[in-house]
Amino acid sequence: MLAAHIAGLGGYVPPRAVHNKELEKILDTTDEWIQQRTGIVTRHWAAPDVGTSDLALEAAQRAIVDAGIALTEIDMIIMASSTPDHDIPGGGCFLQAKLGLPGVPYFEVKQACSGFVYGLSLADQFIKTGHKKCILLVGVEIQSKLLDMTPRGRAVSVIFADGAGAAIIKATEVKDKAKDSYIHSTVLHADGSFAKELWIPAPGTALGAARIIPKMEEDGLVYLHMNARHVFSHAVTKMPEVMKEACALANTGLEQIDLFFFHQANLRISDHVAESLGLKPERMHNTIQKYGNTTAATIPLGMWDALKEGKLKRGQLIGISAFGAGFTWAAAVFRY
Ligand code: COA
Repeated sequence: MLAAHIAGLGGYVPPRAVHNKELEKILDTTDEWIQQRTGIVTRHWAAPDVGTSDLALEAAQRAIVDAGIALTEIDMIIMASSTPDHDIPGGGCFLQAKLGLPGVPYFEVKQACSGFVYGLSLADQFIKTGHKKCILLVGVEIQSKLLDMTPRGRAVSVIFADGAGAAIIKATEVKDKAKDSYIHSTVLHADGSFAKELWIPAPGTALGAARIIPKMEEDGLVYLHMNARHVFSHAVTKMPEVMKEACALANTGLEQIDLFFFHQANLRISDHVAESLGLKPERMHNTIQKYGNTTAATIPLGMWDALKEGKLKRGQLIGISAFGAGFTWAAAVFRY
């Protein structure tokens, strides 16, 4: 059976670690509030001269080494990001140029926190149908440059952060379905009626005659807005629901999954998800404490982190589940 499998992983966070204490000085917040309400202690912020594709490049290079492939084997790039280098063209083309892969097509996936899982599903379909053999999938964000760094934005700005995670998804011939490494299932969902519960309104074409005017910045429309409680209540319901769906599609039970990676939005959200699925803490890998919410990067960055710690190992059955802006939610089951 022709299938897709994760052949390599890479991750990268910019060197500057920002502790909650540093935010106390600018956001009318406290280390205690942030830790109690979100679990976050530090996050990383990119330097002014660094763009999203720079972080993606670092993670991609590590994934290429981990997979032991030649750069030229890559025949497609999928970049999951809500914060590309520029509005047009998509960030994937800057990454493609930096990697030096002219002619290789790229896709832009803009499903925010669910972006990596959406991208994994896309890669899986291209490989299973025999159209591509080796896809570079990157989840990457620079959120720090989109945040309202005044007390007005404190509920949002303490949460989001920068980082990148990459995976090399390769074609494989599965001989033993119970043992071989391959993607068993992916499930994708969205509900656009909640689009304005977590969004950046401006610039945009639905705002009147001009796409961008200075007042949009004054009014804070260029920053991320979030109906925090609404997001919270949907996240704790949808992430476990879709994880169960992905297990059912993979013909496996939750108890068979060795390790879970949930989107890292808030430690309390992850705890609720674990509780509703009846999971002990050691069966999931949380990274929000040190990386914050890196949107599309959180799941691949988490997998890379678990790999470095020796927690993620070849042969394990893995469950991943995400929820984010859109609203979108998605999950996958694969043997690593
Ligand atoms: N520092 C200190 N106080 C803060 C604060 C901050 N950074 N942000 C908000 N507050 C205050 C509020 O102003 C409010 O004060 P009030 O009671 O005097 O009005 C109080 O803390 C409680 O605010 P509330 O919004 O009810 O807090 P919460 O317990 O819901 O936690 C979030 C807020 C954002 C941490 C939480 O709702 C959350 O994580 N939501 C989901 C976010 C998310 O996952 N987003 C991404 C999805 S992919």
